[in-house]
Amino acid sequence: MESMVFKLHSGMNAPKKPLALYIHIPFCKAKCTYCDFYSIIGREDSIPDYMTSILAEIAHTSSSLDLSQHFIDTIFFGGGTPNLLAPNQLEKLLKTLLNLTSNGVNMEIGMELNPGEASLENLIAYRDAGINRISIGMQSFQPHLLKFMSRIHSAEKSISTFEDVRKAGFKNVSGDLIFAVPGQTRHQWISDLQRLIDLQPEHISTYSLTVEEGTALHRWVEAGHVEMLEETVDTGMYAWGREFLEAAGYPNYEISNHARPGYECRHNLNYWTGVEYLGFGPAAHSYFQKRRHWNIKNLDRYIALVKQTGLGEDNFEAIDKNMARNELILTRLRLARGLDLSEYSNQFGENLLTTKQEIFKKWTGKISVEGGHLRVTPAGWALTDEISSDLMSL
Ligand SMILES: C[S@@+](CC[C@H](N)C(=O)[O-])C[C@H]1O[C@@H](n2cnc3c(N)ncnc32)[C@H](O)[C@@H]1O
Ligand code: SF4
Repeated sequence: MESMVFKLHSGMNAPKKPLALYIHIPFCKAKCTYCDFYSIIGREDSIPDYMTSILAEIAHTSSSLDLSQHFIDTIFFGGGTPNLLAPNQLEKLLKTLLNLTSNGVNMEIGMELNPGEASLENLIAYRDAGINRISIGMQSFQPHLLKFMSRIHSAEKSISTFEDVRKAGFKNVSGDLIFAVPGQTRHQWISDLQRLIDLQPEHISTYSLTVEEGTALHRWVEAGHVEMLEETVDTGMYAWGREFLEAAGYPNYEISNHARPGYECRHNLNYWTGVEYLGFGPAAHSYFQKRRHWNIKNLDRYIALVKQTGLGEDNFEAIDKNMARNELILTRLRLARGLDLSEYSNQFGENLLTTKQEIFKKWTGKISVEGGHLRVTPAGWALTDEISSDLMSL
């Protein structure tokens, strides 16, 4: 088996490198109070133009980048709301992406799904098109919290959608929940986790509600109409959730992500472990050959730009050694497996244990070094960002 994988991924010389692909689908039926992802409502009539542009962007990328040394490892359709594309539209995008370069063995091809927005027939068609992982945005099972977040589905719809996804044959399903929502109690949080665990998904993401500028939630907080939970309550909920999920068979593998062993999201792991990725569609980001670029965050301007230049690029930055070092620290410390100290020294010619000795002393008990990996301990979970920024070179 190993030699077959080698043959598939290698030419005469170096083995081919994995590549992750992302498509951003910006359409939504309603805007949630907390969301600052690029998403627009009431624009579904623009989907045909959007399709034309995104296919042109992929074609342009195909002719301008040499992808012959890469193989596609993962693909993710995110949003916005990917299920607002009809199965044949999603299939068209997927087929075009798969033609970009050679395909890996057992690629992970995932999409986000909003509860109550796809029929069983469509779910079967998505699966037949090649999607093999579904991530459902359930957010909460408490009616008052769903209402606060302006979610347009009920708890019952989340459950029936999950059941339909299973009926459609998906074997790799994730559910997203949000915690630390104003008005939420510890009991409600544990009850939300239990209801999701009862459905037996393969993967669970838990996000602490953040207040992002430009959102309705931000305006409410600024005006004093809403008070967010105290930070200690938020971190307490995080720790309870993490321990509760671990005990239920969903160990944490990244700060917000928990999975049954073997079902960790490969696409996100690719982002967090420095794999190159190409993103298509408005607001999508790409990272390729030490260069990061991001597409314009406006559908109409994206469509016009692709017509003009073939690409939707708004701006870019070159990733120098210092940025790469900082990103490696930031991403790896969020992972349960931690930062591989020999990977770090091979890449940057520096022993972190020696150069950052003082920082290691400062965070005694909050970080540990075991088996050549630097990890954040449970006592340091809430301080991961502070620990990372201390280790980073500014
Ligand atoms: C941007 S949504 C896209 C998927 C889908 N439209 C949905 O609503 O589930 C992806 C996930 O990001 C999380 N998210 C977005 N904004 C957030 C915020 N301000 N705080 C916490 N989680 C957030 C939600 O849990 C959501 O499931
Ligand atoms: S959370 Fe999801 S459904 Fe809500 S506005 Fe954002 S992308 Fe759309």
